[in-house]
Amino acid sequence: MRVVLGVSGGIAAYKACSLLRLFTESGHDVTVVPTEAALKFVGVPTWAALSGKPVATDVWTGVDEVNHVRIGQQAELVIVAPATADVMARAAAGQANDLLTATLLTATCPVVFAPAMHTEMWLHPATQANVATLRARGVTVIPPASGRLTGTDTGPGRLPEPPDLYAAALAAVSAPDSSLRGLRVLLTAGGTREALDPVRYLGNRSSGKQGMSLAEIAHARGAQVTLIACNIPNVALPEDITVVTAESALQLQSVVEARAGDADVIVMCAAVADFRPKHYADTKIKKTHAADGADDSAPVIELVRNPDILAGLVQTRGAANTPLIVGFAAETGDDTGSVVDLARAKLARKGCDLLVANEVGVDKTFGQDTNTVHVLFRDGRPERTVGPASKRQVAEAVWDAVTELLERGHAALGVAETQAHLP
Ligand code: CTP
Repeated sequence: MRVVLGVSGGIAAYKACSLLRLFTESGHDVTVVPTEAALKFVGVPTWAALSGKPVATDVWTGVDEVNHVRIGQQAELVIVAPATADVMARAAAGQANDLLTATLLTATCPVVFAPAMHTEMWLHPATQANVATLRARGVTVIPPASGRLTGTDTGPGRLPEPPDLYAAALAAVSAPDSSLRGLRVLLTAGGTREALDPVRYLGNRSSGKQGMSLAEIAHARGAQVTLIACNIPNVALPEDITVVTAESALQLQSVVEARAGDADVIVMCAAVADFRPKHYADTKIKKTHAADGADDSAPVIELVRNPDILAGLVQTRGAANTPLIVGFAAETGDDTGSVVDLARAKLARKGCDLLVANEVGVDKTFGQDTNTVHVLFRDGRPERTVGPASKRQVAEAVWDAVTELLERGHAALGVAETQAHLP
């Protein structure tokens, strides 16, 4: 395939080198079109060596070959990675003031933008309007990943990893996967917070990244997705995913239960606190101060159990076993068993159809971009291990497993039947 890799001027340009290699190593013919600013980060010799082709950097190079028109016309895929706010603004406005934007104006093939920038720039209404304009024209804009940015700041704006960009680019040229078309998916993501007082809460380390990848892939495969986001600071998802927020386990329970009847598949990816403080203090809990300053007493916080939302959903679903329910299990393993042993016991206890178990710890899974999971089936088919893989690849594997269950006629629900929900 003839691919144009547009590179604009961001620090993430270095990641485009790995993306380029993924294309060339799979036999694609890649023409790199860097902007002038991109060359401040990675120079022409690198692009030329990795692509095995001369690199045109402006409209005045190779004028006899009419490069500014030819490169776009001949392309079968254009991917711009990283795409800065500036290049998206110029593309949205239809400008052709450098070789990359001229190429974008002449390309009739699928076009993919992979934005990377600081969070404020990504969230700015001007950038969001440009993204909406590009999407409305059929351009694929891959939502940026969340995480550490160039400085000390964190948030959405990171360029996703090259294997994810590569997969998204190929998906844009291949026939869209519509295996979940019309399916109504209810997904929880993030982690609950259990308030102690107006200032403090008991929480957990879940970042919501895995749940957001699950939402994105389900949406890309045609599902109608509702995401219940528990304390995810910046949710950057395609617009037609419905996002509802819930803070505590009890709030999550009431939102999930109110919507469960309208779902064909429920995925409980959120890390739900098992306990909450028995008493909520309406005002900030203060230290006590002895007259002599020697008071080191501390309050004892009494906890009560939270409801098990997942187990409740399983218990109340109909005899037809609908909706299909997917649970997640965060396990560290202990002296009673391995991660998989504990997950198997949890699957039996909760009674859901699929259980996705991941190994967690301070540096494992939570907030990280990669993950290793074990997918366990209630119906006895052998479990699968996925990874180490990106959270997007894990999400693909989870939806593959769901599709497999639906195709084999999970309960009374089949994909054909669920398509009856289509307008
Ligand atoms: N879950 C839930 N309600 C809770 C706790 C967990 O719905 N009160 C769901 C989670 O969303 C997840 C699954 O149950 O899909 C497993 O969560 P996990 O925290 O691993 O399991 P627990 O049941 O809390 O078991 P334990 O903490 O004892 O390992």
